Amino acid sequence: MPVKKGRLGVLVGGGPAPGINGAISASVIEAVNSGLEVIGIYDGFAHLVKGEVDQTRPLDIPDVARVHSQGGSILRTSRTNPTREPDGVETSIKTLKGLGVEYLVTIGGDDTAYSASELAQAANGEIRVAHIPKTIDNDLPLPGDMPTFGFETARHVGTGLVLNLMEDSRTTDRWYFVTVMGRKAGHLALGIGISAGATVTIIPEEFRKPRIDLADITDVLEGAIMKRRVHGHKDGMAVIAEGVAELVNPEQLAAIPGVEIDYDEFGHIRLGEIPLATILKRQVQQRFAERGETFAIVEATMGYEFRSAAPIPFDIEYTRTLGHWAVRFLLDEPTEDNLKNGGLVCMVQRRLTALPFEELREPGTGRPKVRMVDVDSQLYQVAREYMTRLEPEDLEDPEMCAKLAQAAGMSPEAYGKRYRASAAL
Ligand code: F6P
Repeated sequence: MPVKKGRLGVLVGGGPAPGINGAISASVIEAVNSGLEVIGIYDGFAHLVKGEVDQTRPLDIPDVARVHSQGGSILRTSRTNPTREPDGVETSIKTLKGLGVEYLVTIGGDDTAYSASELAQAANGEIRVAHIPKTIDNDLPLPGDMPTFGFETARHVGTGLVLNLMEDSRTTDRWYFVTVMGRKAGHLALGIGISAGATVTIIPEEFRKPRIDLADITDVLEGAIMKRRVHGHKDGMAVIAEGVAELVNPEQLAAIPGVEIDYDEFGHIRLGEIPLATILKRQVQQRFAERGETFAIVEATMGYEFRSAAPIPFDIEYTRTLGHWAVRFLLDEPTEDNLKNGGLVCMVQRRLTALPFEELREPGTGRPKVRMVDVDSQLYQVAREYMTRLEPEDLEDPEMCAKLAQAAGMSPEAYGKRYRASAAL
């Protein structure tokens, strides 16, 4: 392997994810061992787009040797989008060149991958870029169905938190509604809901349409509550992916007092700003109030609790491997023309490989591809088997339908008609 001298830059973009420090640390160690100098760039592209060079630090092996087990990011992170400004990419390249950077490791999700690929293309080989895919959302379409790093730790920590709430729910005989981060995709909510054994998990993919009404989500929740009552339980846990809010017409959401729709630099709705759990709690309570009943629900919103958590061994090993591999990919001669400016490093069936950036983009729009939960898969079908929610069979079974209707204070005919659509989801 030829050893090259030069300078490597490392930066992190997007939301935090457990394992970032492992990826930084492994990149630095392998780069230094290969004869490169390394500079860490703080706050993603935030300073590079402004031509600022002072928010950087030299990184050597002693600086990173023990950080792989720590949460957060020693280089912090930001959502600055260099492709948003007309000369953002050009200025970033100029700034990097001014810093002597010939190789760049970017650590981030779909947006950072997009920025990295635009930069790699514009730099045309003068700065080779290796992107390490990260996100708790697990929504990057990695080959071999590999998770993005950070997802497994987020699922682990989130499951523990939901299990604690479920114990509280059993102890106090109340329902809990917990919304979970994940952007458009339901991977994290489903992973947590299934692992914890939540009563019901609701994800955007199950609606199979681009727009829904808030009442569609409320129907599923109400159906689950009623069915669990019929089974003799007053408590329950609903895990709801934050992305279902993105299916609801923004005008309907914005009409709710206290709700403001805000967008990030990449044009995504800032879902963390929408109090979905509170909105759904009120909607369900309203339904019960219409039947003359007070119904207690505790709501919680989860995501920030696990994004910066210390990584579990899976994510430590995964990120230490990818960080090392990113540097090898940059230093070894590219074997294929479409990887000459850079690419995304990944692991497929325990083999390390690299993907051209174009493979991560939607053919028509050029925007990053998003991996969604496959609701037609056997795995999702099994997950559904574990949930308590209204199913078409419940409405076809006269005895069950009568019990559900009684719990809702309706006639079986009216009940069947009213909830047929949500049971069919
Ligand atoms: O993409 C990671 C993520 O954690 C999403 O799950 C979430 O919607 C988003 O970031 C929140 O980001 P922030 O509040 O930091 O802008």
